Amino acid sequence: MCGIVGYVGGQEAREVLIDGLKRLEYRGYDSAGLALGSGKDLLIIKEVGKVEDLERMLQKVPAGYHQGIGHTRWATHGGVSQANAHPHKDGKGQFALVHNGIIENFSELREELERKGVVFLSETDTEAIVHLVATSFSRTGDILETLVYLQKRLRGTFALALMQQGLPDRIYTIRRGSPLVLGSGNGEAFCASDIPAFLPYTRRIQYPEEGDIAEISPGGIRIWDEKGRPVERSVVTVDWDVSMTEKSGFSHYMLKEIHEQGTVLRRSLKGRVVDGKTMISGELGWNVEMVSKWKKVHIVACGSSYYSALVAERLLEKWTDLEIKVDIASEYRYRHVACDPTTLAVFVSQSGETADTLAALRKARAAGAHCLAITNVRGSTLAREVHSVLLLKAGPEIGVAATKSFTGQLAALFLVALQLGSMRGILAPHEEERLVNELIRIPYKVELLLEKDGEIKEIARKYAQNKNMLFIGRGMSFPVAQEGALKLKEVSYIHAEALAAGEMKHGPIALLEPGVPVLAVIPKDSLYEKTLSNIQEIKARNASLIAVCTEGDRFVPEQAGSVIETPWTDEEFTPFLSVIPLQLLSFHIALILGREIDQPRNLAKSVTVE
Ligand code: AGP
Repeated sequence: MCGIVGYVGGQEAREVLIDGLKRLEYRGYDSAGLALGSGKDLLIIKEVGKVEDLERMLQKVPAGYHQGIGHTRWATHGGVSQANAHPHKDGKGQFALVHNGIIENFSELREELERKGVVFLSETDTEAIVHLVATSFSRTGDILETLVYLQKRLRGTFALALMQQGLPDRIYTIRRGSPLVLGSGNGEAFCASDIPAFLPYTRRIQYPEEGDIAEISPGGIRIWDEKGRPVERSVVTVDWDVSMTEKSGFSHYMLKEIHEQGTVLRRSLKGRVVDGKTMISGELGWNVEMVSKWKKVHIVACGSSYYSALVAERLLEKWTDLEIKVDIASEYRYRHVACDPTTLAVFVSQSGETADTLAALRKARAAGAHCLAITNVRGSTLAREVHSVLLLKAGPEIGVAATKSFTGQLAALFLVALQLGSMRGILAPHEEERLVNELIRIPYKVELLLEKDGEIKEIARKYAQNKNMLFIGRGMSFPVAQEGALKLKEVSYIHAEALAAGEMKHGPIALLEPGVPVLAVIPKDSLYEKTLSNIQEIKARNASLIAVCTEGDRFVPEQAGSVIETPWTDEEFTPFLSVIPLQLLSFHIALILGREIDQPRNLAKSVTVE
C-alpha cells in the first residue's frame, strides 16, 4: 500500500526522501512524488512510474531544501495518473500533504468543500484532506487546532504527513489506523510508514498511538493526542541494522530472505527453549491459572500467515485439549463466531498492519477474548492492541512474497502450541523434551536443504512454461501445499491450486492433462501411504509429477519425474522443511519468466485497507 516518508534536518531532503522511498518500494506502488520546502517556496514533483523516474526529474531541482515529504501511491480512489499522485496541495499552495489509508466520508467532504468554492484537481480522497486543512487554518491560524479539527471530520484510516509553506523546519503527522513511525537523529527527524525508510540514519523510534498528532523538527519530536493534549511516547532503539534491508550480494530480496531462514529460526528459538522445555510464558505474561480458563483457541490471519496458522491448528489439536478454530481474517470479522472470555484469540501477521486482521482482533477483544499477536514488527498496530505479543525474529522482510516470515511464524506458533500443551498438562514432559530437541535441530536441516538451490533451479527449467500447476498434500503437508501454490501464483503468475490430496478424486482429478504438472508434498509421515496412493492415481492418468519427499524414500522417486528430497524429521516438523523447495522453485520459475519477483504486479507487502 502507499508509503510515506518525511524529513527535516541538515541534509538535502530530496536525497533522504528518495532513499527512503526506495526502501518502501516493497509496499507496492504505481506513482511517486515529493514536496520540498526551503522556507521560501514549496515545490511539488510527482509522476506515474518508479521512484527512479522521480529521482531523474529531481536532478533539475537546485540544492537547499532541508524539509520534505515523499510518497509512493498504490491507487485506490482515482486511477493511476500524475494528478492523482501525492503530494496534494490546497488552492493557494500553502500546504502539501501525503496520505496512506482511505477516507470513507470523502464524497461528503468533497461536496461540502466544492459548495464553498474549492476546486479539486484530482479524483483522490486525499485532496479533500488538504483543502480541509487549508480552510480550517484560515479560520483558526493555529495548526494544532486545525489537526484536532481534522480528526473530528475524517472517517476511515489514515497516516498523514503535512508541511506548510514558510515553515521549513516542521512536519506534522497524524496516525489513525494506518502505519506510521517517527525517528529522531542528531539535529534531524523523520517520519515513515515503516522503519527501513530511515534505518540508515537512525534507530531511535517512536510509535504514535491511534489519533496522535506529532510535530517533527530538527530539535525533536512533540506529540499530542487526538484532543490536542501533550503526551509522551517512549523512544525505542530497534535492533534492526541497515544491512538487514539490503540484498547483501543476492540478486533479489526474496532469494536473500529464503537463504536467511536457518538464522531466523535459530534467533526465534534462542532463549525460548531451555533444557528441553518451552520458556515463553514469561514473555507472554501467561500463568497456569489464566491458561486453564481457556476452552477455545481462534487463530486468525491472511495469506501466508493463514497457512502457518493451519499448521498450528494441527499441532494444537494434538498437544492440547482446546477447541481450535482457524479462519481467514476477512471472513472471521463478519462471521457470528462464538468468541468470549474463555477464548485465546491468536492473530498472525508479519506486518502487524493488515486491515482485516486488525478488524478481527478488535472484534475478538471486544468479545472478551485474551488476544495474542504473532508479528514481526514490534510497535505495529497489532502488537500494540493485544494483551500478549510473541515477536518473530525474522528481521525486515522486503520481498512481497513471505518466505522467512512464514517459517518464523511456524516457529513462533510451535512455541505457543508447546507452551499451551505443557501448561495445561496435556503434553507430557518427556514428549515436550523430544519435540524441543528436534525443534532446535531444524535450523541446521533447513540450511542443508538450502544447498539444493542449484538442483531446484534445474527442475524449475522443466516446468516454467506450464500455465497451470496443482499442489497436493495431506495433514501437516496440506497447508504447505497451499503456501507453495500461493508462492508460485504471486511471483510467477502461473495459475496454481492446492488440494488436500484425498480430495483429488472428488473433482479436481478432471483437470489432469499434459501441461498440468502436480507437485506432491509427501514426507515420511503417518499419512505417507495414503498420499502415495493418491500419487499413483495421478500417475495412472499420465500427469507429470514433482515430489517433495524424505531422503531415502524408495517408492516416491519411482513415480515422480522430478524429486526434491528433504532431510528426515518427525512428522510435526515437516512443514519447516517441505516449504523450502517450494519457495525456491517459485523463485526460479519466476526468474526464468522474467517476473518482477520482489514486487509482483498488483500486490502490496502489507494490505492496510480492507
Ligand atoms: C504472502 O506471500 C503474501 N504477500 C500475503 O499473502 C501475506 O501473507 C498477507 O497479506 C498477510 O500479511 P501479514 O502477514 O503482514 O498480515
